[in-house]
Amino acid sequence: MEVQIRKLSADDDRNRFDCGVASLNDWLQKTASQHEKKNLTRTYVAVLADKPDAIVGYYALAATSIETEGISAKSRLPRKVAAVLLARLAVDTKRKGKGLGEYLLAHALDTVIVTAETIGIQCVVVDAIDDRAAGFYEKYGFVRLTNDPLRLVLPVATISQA
Ligand SMILES: CC(C)(COP(=O)(O)OP(=O)(O)OC[C@H]1O[C@@H](n2cnc3c(N)ncnc32)[C@H](O)[C@@H]1OP(=O)(O)O)[C@@H](O)C(=O)NCCC(=O)NCCS
Repeated sequence: MEVQIRKLSADDDRNRFDCGVASLNDWLQKTASQHEKKNLTRTYVAVLADKPDAIVGYYALAATSIETEGISAKSRLPRKVAAVLLARLAVDTKRKGKGLGEYLLAHALDTVIVTAETIGIQCVVVDAIDDRAAGFYEKYGFVRLTNDPLRLVLPVATISQA
């Protein structure tokens, strides 16, 4: 399966995407394009090389700022820092367990690293939908906030070292 990741296009068929979580399906189908036009998020989709209109996974990024209070390993950070919110990440049920989630996450982190060369970004933040999803992010170095365990952060400095 050769997969390509590219930006969401207005022509993409979003209606057949099903990751098993209704809110994540609905967001891609009904909200992603509107948020794109309003510059609220940027959405990237994974498509099969031989079927470029079928979305098999996606992620979305937005600029945000976060309170540093719950970051356990903080070294003299201000009360609030600039961050990139990994607003959504999902893989179609037919493609789960084959490395696509990891591939999408790695692509998202590469996008953050490139952006962090021109704009100060302290970390990536994600709000996991449940404890299992939080476990997925922990596998890649994200750390739970002490005061909000479903919110996890990954410093840009840590991504750069990897
Ligand atoms: C979470 C999700 C994106 C993972 O995608 P995937 O393509 O199935 O994951 P991968 O095949 O790339 O798995 C990568 C690794 O993460 C692990 N993993 C996958 N899903 C996991 C989960 N829910 N919890 C903990 N670990 C998980 C895999 O076991 C694998 O580890 P291994 O290589 O040691 O076996 C996907 O299951 C999904 O879309 N879930 C529904 C939506 C969701 O929960 N999104 C997260 C939003 S907060």
